Amino acid sequence: MTFILRKMVMEDLPSVLKNEREAYKFPWSEGIFKGCLCKGDECWVISEKKIAGHAILSCAAKESHVLNLCVHPDFQGRGFGRKILDHILSVALTKGAESTFLEVRASNSIAVKLYEAMGFNEIGRRENYYPASINREDALVFGKELL
Ligand SMILES: CC(C)(COP(=O)(O)OP(=O)(O)OC[C@H]1O[C@@H](n2cnc3c(N)ncnc32)[C@H](O)[C@@H]1OP(=O)(O)O)[C@@H](O)C(=O)NCCC(=O)NCCS
Repeated sequence: MTFILRKMVMEDLPSVLKNEREAYKFPWSEGIFKGCLCKGDECWVISEKKIAGHAILSCAAKESHVLNLCVHPDFQGRGFGRKILDHILSVALTKGAESTFLEVRASNSIAVKLYEAMGFNEIGRRENYYPASINREDALVFGKELL
C-alpha cells in the first residue's frame, strides 16, 4: 500500500467533510473541524491519490484524546485506519502524552476491534452519550498507556 500521512490544512476540508459525511451517520460539522485546526489540535490525513481518511487528537497535561478517526467506506478494510491511528499515537508521545483516551459507539464493533487490537482497554461507559436514529446510544470509553 502506498500512502502519505500529512497534517490537515484548511484546503483539505471539502474532501475531509465529504469523507466524514459518507462514513458517519452523525458527521462532524465544518465548524468543528475548523475549531480543531485553529486551536492547534493534531489534525492529520492519510491519502492514496486522494484523501482516504483523517484523525484528530488533542493533547493536554500528559493526556491525549482521539477525537475523530475516519476512513472513507471505499478505503475501509485496507489498513488505513490502523496506520493513521498508529501515527497519531506516536505524535501524542512526541508531545509528552503518557496515555490516550477515546469514546466509541457501543454498536461500532469494527472500531472496537481495531482499538482492542491496538492495545486499548475498555475503561468505562457513558450512557446516552451519542445521538442515534432512535433515542440515544451509549459510548464506550477506551484508554491506552503510551509509555
Ligand atoms: C473504524 C475505521 C476507522 C477502521 O478503519 P479501516 O481502515 O477500515 O481499518 P483497517 O483496515 O486499518 O483495519 C484495522 C482493524 O480493524 C478491524 N476491522 C476492520 N474492518 C473490519 C471488519 N469489516 N470487520 C471486523 N473488523 C474489522 C480489524 O481488527 C482490523 O485489523 P486486522 O486487519 O488485523 O483484522 C473505519 O471503519 C471507519 O472510518 N468507520 C466509520 C467511522 C468510525 O466508526 N470511526 C470510529 C469512530 S470511534
